[in-house]
Amino acid sequence: MGKVITCKAAVARGPSQPLVIEEVQVDPPKRTEIRIRILFTSICHTDLAAWKGENESQRAYPRILGHEASGVIESVGEEVTDLKPRDHVIPIFHGECGDCVYCHHPSTNICKNFGVDPMRKEMPSDGKVRFWSKGRGEPIYHFLNTSTFSEYTVIDSSCVVKFDPRLPLKKLSLFSCGVSTGVGAVWFTANVQAGQKVAVFGLGAVGLAVAAGARARGASQIIGVDINPNKFEKGKAMGITDFINPNELQKPVHEVVKKLTGGGADYSFECTGNLQILREAFLSTQMGWGLTVLVGVHAKPDTLPIHPMELFSGQSLKGCIFGGLKGKTQLPSFAAQCLEGAVNLDEFITHELPFERINEAFQLLIDGKSLRCVLKL
Ligand code: APR
Ligand code: ZN
Repeated sequence: MGKVITCKAAVARGPSQPLVIEEVQVDPPKRTEIRIRILFTSICHTDLAAWKGENESQRAYPRILGHEASGVIESVGEEVTDLKPRDHVIPIFHGECGDCVYCHHPSTNICKNFGVDPMRKEMPSDGKVRFWSKGRGEPIYHFLNTSTFSEYTVIDSSCVVKFDPRLPLKKLSLFSCGVSTGVGAVWFTANVQAGQKVAVFGLGAVGLAVAAGARARGASQIIGVDINPNKFEKGKAMGITDFINPNELQKPVHEVVKKLTGGGADYSFECTGNLQILREAFLSTQMGWGLTVLVGVHAKPDTLPIHPMELFSGQSLKGCIFGGLKGKTQLPSFAAQCLEGAVNLDEFITHELPFERINEAFQLLIDGKSLRCVLKL
């Protein structure tokens, strides 16, 4: 406590270069921060995009990526009041300070101070790093407020959620991003009701979490769209009722969705980060009331592929970050509901590997073979 810790971390040293397991030094947490011993971490598509440096302005190396994880608090800064050493926690990349105008507003999970900022590469509180290599000679950048590909990481307490220590830490790591993002989009942002029709574009962990969330709400039809047919079997287990592979069609996907649903889906969820798919998702919804929820992260600078007049037919579009959930105040009861059986969490953990094999875990996601590969640190 109060001292620098030397430990292992997987460091990104350049775009698409294999991560290097290195010894790094981790500073003690400052005033409102905590230092966590990470025990489980997994890889999300957003880590992949940052690792590849898909968005040029996001490129920053060396950097410790990773934002889905769980662990135990090692030490806390002197102003932290809601967390203490040995608490079981998960990091959340989209924090909740509890103090800003958005945190006080009941219908948004935006936070002015600790909301996700993909451009930020240092700690939000002082704009400095807490990671060093080469005998403190080289600063290592942070990622998405969290940087979990490390045995120890420093995170602001606004980006950390505490859980009952009896809950399984491995499964809890899924709530750092994938499951919360997908299920939350259905329960919070769309608020899907029993009997409604849903279309999901992209059947990665996020899209399948959307399907699981829609099933839990009693959706009558859940259409899954993916170019990888290997996703269909898993999709069935998660509640998908109809599948569309765009590569096997002679006509646009939205025409097929409209036909299958008899007019259009009540809700479309875009979970690929592809603009063309976003357009198909929008056109797949029911005229008059259909809502498209944008869940996937679009790293490229292009803008919406929708003509303003198209909004006159009553379909709308809404973005959703971190499932629309307020992390500190809403995540514990949300996770409890999922853990009690509303969502089958085991289905999301398709692979497990030791932390040292993190590059293999990246490859599994690139090859479309894994939903989540959980790494044990
Ligand atoms: N049409 C249909 N499906 C597609 C297409 C496409 N053109 N391109 C990709 N997909 C499918 C992939 O086959 C894959 O099954 O989208 C899925 C994406 O899944 P993952 O790579 O596992 O990503 P995931 O972690 O689920 O994240 C999905 O949300 O967090 C964001 O940045 C992330 O934009 C990404 C999205
Ligand atoms: Zn706030």
